[in-house]
Amino acid sequence: MAYQNLLIADTDGIRTITINRPDQLNALNRATIAELDQALNEAEADKSVRVLIITGSGAKAFVAGADIKEFAHFSVEEGKMLSAEGHKQLFDHVERLNKPVIAAVNGFALGGGLELAMSCHLRVASANAKMGLPETGLGVIPGYGGTQRLARLVGKGKAMEMIFTAGMIKADEALQWGLVNHVVPQAEGPDASGNPLLAKCAEIAAAIMKNSPTALAAAIRAVNAGFAPGVNGMQREIEEFGNCFGTADFVEGTGAFMEKRKADFTGAL
Ligand code: COA
Repeated sequence: MAYQNLLIADTDGIRTITINRPDQLNALNRATIAELDQALNEAEADKSVRVLIITGSGAKAFVAGADIKEFAHFSVEEGKMLSAEGHKQLFDHVERLNKPVIAAVNGFALGGGLELAMSCHLRVASANAKMGLPETGLGVIPGYGGTQRLARLVGKGKAMEMIFTAGMIKADEALQWGLVNHVVPQAEGPDASGNPLLAKCAEIAAAIMKNSPTALAAAIRAVNAGFAPGVNGMQREIEEFGNCFGTADFVEGTGAFMEKRKADFTGAL
């Protein structure tokens, strides 16, 4: 499908989705969120896609938040709707995707931008990245999962501090806090092949793609279960673990070990 606000590129099993509104620092308006919903559905259904990378266009921003210009005049009901639809279409959607999603945080990740990065399964940031939840400075609170996912990633105290101060932290601090998995030097040119951030994401993706897609999907479901209210994560792990024994990937993975060869999980694709 053709997108107005996204760029899509495929390389060796990796689909890179670039949010492409650089003149608005890739702010998430409703049209972009709807397109991301569609792009995630397409990636999920396409077996040639093994890992997703989500990033922002331009050298300045990953995503500078929800589009403030769009919601500034919303009523209470419209505000609730905006939040609920966003959770469903994008943030929960990313978190529950059946294949790993890496956020390549190439600059400002603020408000909905940080919330999007936190919905992804892994985060890699460039050294110039700045992250924060500025919503209280606008008279609102994070509404795309930030109050929950930030506390899970960095702990309640640090999450409270970031939300209360509405301040930004730099990439090295985010690494120290566990908010991002890796920090890499900032890209020097526009050419993606010389972009250390995308290169690091591709390196992680290559390591992931050696492993079983069905097991990766099960791992995503099991880990997520531990953070879902009212769900017994350990019980979910038991179920998912057991179900793996009925998959072709399990036959291939264990068979390859016995035969002292590398497993090839492409057969099931
Ligand atoms: N929503 C809508 N538009 C946004 C935006 C957002 N979240 N963030 C940036 N933009 C727009 C600006 O309005 C500006 O557009 P304009 O040229 O049409 O006026 C353009 O992107 C460039 O941003 P600008 O503010 O001029 O860049 P800067 O370098 O001076 O500042 C930031 C960069 C990120 C510090 C600043 O844009 C900012 O504070 N953005 C809002 C962050 C925020 O509060 N996000 C949470 C939203 S809930």
